Amino acid sequence: MKSNLFIKYFELIDKRASVLDYGSGDGPYKNMLKAYFKEYTSADYQVTNQHHSIRPDIFIDDNQQVNVDDQTFTCVVISEVLEHIYKPHNALNEIKRVLVPGGYVIGTVPFFMWEHEKPYDFHRYTYFGLKRMFKDNGFEIIKLDYVGDTIGVSAYCFSKVFSVFIKPFRKIKPLHFVLKLI
Ligand SMILES: C[S@@+](CC[C@H](N)C(=O)[O-])C[C@H]1O[C@@H](n2cnc3c(N)ncnc32)[C@H](O)[C@@H]1O
Repeated sequence: MKSNLFIKYFELIDKRASVLDYGSGDGPYKNMLKAYFKEYTSADYQVTNQHHSIRPDIFIDDNQQVNVDDQTFTCVVISEVLEHIYKPHNALNEIKRVLVPGGYVIGTVPFFMWEHEKPYDFHRYTYFGLKRMFKDNGFEIIKLDYVGDTIGVSAYCFSKVFSVFIKPFRKIKPLHFVLKLI
């Protein structure tokens, strides 16, 4: 859970804003986002959402689109989702469409993570891959940085070698980002 990380960046955003939780899954951030923002909308890809416990307010279609008007949201949260989107540029384009000018995107991606949500697991991003992709898609990068520490990385490698899957150490230095629509 990256609640504390997200809350730090919410200070950039007007509390009266509306937020889209893009790829909401089991909705781990739903309560936190509802508490902070005036309006909360969850969206998830219909095909993969059936394996999750919560249905979203709206579905994301095969072209990564959602049925909402242009410039509806002030913030989009996209947590551990980009790796599941075969054509991430389509998703970034749609996020741009539904964001107000100057709106924010806050998200995370894993780096060293076993395949999950199979077969809908397509990418692992590097720092430089994300940087170029966000810039190419017209976002200003407010923050792009790693999450986690060396101990976590070491523990993960250790657990892999010995096939001991210690849950808290599974994710290795995931990246997080904060973008502003130019
Ligand atoms: C690892 S879960 C993350 C869920 C939640 N955001 C979180 O942080 O716990 C990945 C999510 O991506 C969604 N997903 C998979 N393919 C997608 C796609 N093409 N477009 C949007 N979301 C997708 C899944 O339905 C799932 O909710």
